[in-house]
Amino acid sequence: MELQGKRIVLGVTGGIAAYKAAELVRLLGKQGAEVQVAMTEAAMHFVTPTTFQALSGRPVFTDQWDARMPNAMAHIDLSRQADCIVVAPASADFLARAAHGFADGLLATMVLARDCPLLVAPAMNRQMWESPATQRNVAQLAADGVAILGPACGEQACGEVGAGRMLEPEEIVEEVVAFFAPKVLAGRRVLITAGPTFEAIDPVRGITNLSSGRMGYAVARAARHAGAEVTLVSGPVGIPAPQGVDRIDVLGALDMHAAVMARAQAADIFIGVAAVADYRVANAAGHKLKKDEGGIPPVELIENPDILAEVAALTDGPFCVGFAAESHNLEEYAQAKRRRKNIPLIAGNLIQDGFGSDDNRLVLFDDTGAHPLTPAPKSVLARQLVEHIAKLTGAA
Ligand code: C5P
Repeated sequence: MELQGKRIVLGVTGGIAAYKAAELVRLLGKQGAEVQVAMTEAAMHFVTPTTFQALSGRPVFTDQWDARMPNAMAHIDLSRQADCIVVAPASADFLARAAHGFADGLLATMVLARDCPLLVAPAMNRQMWESPATQRNVAQLAADGVAILGPACGEQACGEVGAGRMLEPEEIVEEVVAFFAPKVLAGRRVLITAGPTFEAIDPVRGITNLSSGRMGYAVARAARHAGAEVTLVSGPVGIPAPQGVDRIDVLGALDMHAAVMARAQAADIFIGVAAVADYRVANAAGHKLKKDEGGIPPVELIENPDILAEVAALTDGPFCVGFAAESHNLEEYAQAKRRRKNIPLIAGNLIQDGFGSDDNRLVLFDDTGAHPLTPAPKSVLARQLVEHIAKLTGAA
C-alpha cells in the first residue's frame, strides 16, 4: 500500500490507450490511493464513465458544468482535494492545451487551476509524438514542472512502431510511487550489488549462495525513488530490475568484482547486498563433466576478492554500506565485519528472519551503535536504510 491515503485525480483523454486507464484505476486503488476520475468528451468515445465509476467507486466528472458540485466549480474543487493529478493517457491535443494554458473543458481548466503536482503519460501515434509541435509542448510542460512519464517505444495501435506508446499501468503506478518519495538522495550516484554469485564447476554446474536478490533489488528501487542514479550489479536472480535502474548482469564473483571496480570510483555510495561466494573453482572445466570420466572430480577452491572491502579501501571512494546475514550473535558478528571491512554502516539480519521472503528484520549498525528497524516488508526496510544512509552522508 505505497499510496495509502493519497488522493489522485486521474484525467483520461481521448486515445486508444484509454482502455488501459481502467486498469490504472484498479492498480492505484490497490496501492491505497483514492482515485477520482475526470474524462474528456473524446475519452468517452473509447471507454464509458460507468467503467471508471465501477472501478473507482466514485462518480466520474466529464463536464465543467457538472451540477453535482454545489458551487458549480468542479475544476477548482477537484484539484484542491487532490495530492496530484495524473493524466493518462495524455493525448497530443491535451498536451497542447495544457502547455498553452487553455481553459476549455473540465480537464484543461482543472489542470490550469490546480495547486498540486501534475504527471502526464503521453500516448499517441509516433509521428504525432515526434512532431515539432508536440515536442515543443512537452518541453514547455517539463519546464513548467510537469512530470512527463514515458512514453514507451514499441508497436502502436495504428500498426506503426516507434515512440508514443503509453507506459503500462504498472509502470505509471511505479512512477507515481517514486514521485511521492522524499528525494533524500537527489543526484547521488549509487552502486549496488545484489543476488548470489554462481561459481562454475563446469558449464552447467556450480557453487552458489541462497539469495533471492529481493533485498538488494528493494534497496535499488528505494534509492532510485529517493532521487539517486542507480546502477545494480546483479548475480543470477529470477526477478525483474526495478524501473529506472541500470542493471548489469554478472555470474561469478570475479565478474561482479570487475563490474563494481569499473564503476566504484564514480559512485557516491556503494551498497553491497550481494551474497558473494567466498570461494570460486580454480579448476573449472570447459566442458560438461561426465560421471564416467573417472571417480569424483576434485574441486579446488580459491578465495574470491572481497569486493566491499576493496571498494572501502579506495582513496576518495564512495560511502560504503555492507550487509551481514548471520544465524546467531548478530550484533557481535555484524559489528566485527563492519570494522574488519572498514565501512561506516552495515545492515544485519538473522538468516531465519528474511531468507527468500518478502519481509525481513534488519538492524543497522554504525559508529553510534545498533539501530533496530521494526520487522517489515523489504520495500519498507529498504526505504529506512536509504534514509539512514542519507542522514549519515549529510544528504538529508
Ligand atoms: O564477508 P561477508 O560475506 O561475511 O560480508 C558480507 C558483506 O560483504 C556483504 O555486504 C557482501 O555483499 C560483501 N562481500 C563482498 N565480497 C565478498 C564477500 C562479501 O562484497 N567477496
